[in-house]
Amino acid sequence: MSTVEPTLRSTLEGIPAYKAGKPPVVVPGVTSYKLASNENHHDPLPSVVMAINDCLTEIHRYPDYASVGLREAIADRFDVPTSHVSVGTGSVGILQQLVQITAGPGDGVLFGWRSFEAYPIMTQIAGATAQRVPLDATATHDLDAMLAAIDDTTRLILVCNPNNPTGTVVGAQALRDFVAAVPSHILVVIDEAYTEFVDPSSTADGLELYRQYSNVAVLRTFSKAYGLAALRVGFCIAHERVSEALAKVQVPFGVSTPAQVAAVASLAAEAELLARVDVIVTERHRMSAALAGLGLHPAVSEANFVWLSLGEQTLDFAGACEREGITVRPFDGEGVRITIGEPAANDRLLEIAASWAASRAS
Ligand SMILES: Cc1ncc(COP(=O)(O)O)c(C=O)c1O
Repeated sequence: MSTVEPTLRSTLEGIPAYKAGKPPVVVPGVTSYKLASNENHHDPLPSVVMAINDCLTEIHRYPDYASVGLREAIADRFDVPTSHVSVGTGSVGILQQLVQITAGPGDGVLFGWRSFEAYPIMTQIAGATAQRVPLDATATHDLDAMLAAIDDTTRLILVCNPNNPTGTVVGAQALRDFVAAVPSHILVVIDEAYTEFVDPSSTADGLELYRQYSNVAVLRTFSKAYGLAALRVGFCIAHERVSEALAKVQVPFGVSTPAQVAAVASLAAEAELLARVDVIVTERHRMSAALAGLGLHPAVSEANFVWLSLGEQTLDFAGACEREGITVRPFDGEGVRITIGEPAANDRLLEIAASWAASRAS
């Protein structure tokens, strides 16, 4: 074999590997839980499983290239033209397309930090430059600082609302003012992966802004509230110029037939799915109050997870959880993100947190 290796794009050097949430750790005698990936713990709905089963006899055929049925169902649900709807392999797949159509070497992609870890990865893959703006003291996007950070290179702004991993949202008027102030040649993507878990009075709906501004796009997913994480299907609602560009860079046949069918069936079962979301939101309130009662100061979350800014004690807390069979998502030196799971998992997490907090105090 030659000692000379293939030449790859230099921009790939230094890209951090995406860290997926760890699977549950096996601890003898206790049920393990994964609270590390912001998944929906509810089993898939029977009607959705049936729709998937019914299409399995067709899997020797390619899926509908343009995902017409799914795009029409989304358009119908959100009262937008079908031509404004793009679907992709999870919203992360469309995120990559959004970066591809806006930014290359010499261009800036601006986002709050810390936020969804795919943002800097996608930016660097495109050879563009990440313009990271620190969150404020409440772990929320600092929209004024983001506005001030825009420069001549900025091509794309990502507003993660609610923000992953902190769960915080930006205020409704603050978001409206921000979008109004961004120069209209810059695409603003409002990433609403967790929007179904949000109290609508706490922030602005990205779709309201998309209807007003041609440079606003909204990114959503079937992975979280709709519980289809394994099927990889997300969508973007954007005006024609952006939607048409997204179609040019899409992975051909990226969204499989089972994914398309399951997403359509999920929209048809939305009331049932949103009732499950209510269960998670109620649990989130319970968890947030209990963690606050332990003096752990959770950030104000509007998502299906909570964030504890534990700084240097982050890995210690995550280790304490692992020893009791629970995986959470630590960000070393910053904090830990805890997905809201089934009540038994949440109870265990709170017990662990209580003894951890007590040992820290002693
Ligand atoms: C903010 C945010 N956006 C997008 C995604 C991507 O989700 P998916 O690719 O499963 O649709 C995630 C997943 O965790 C996320 O947290």
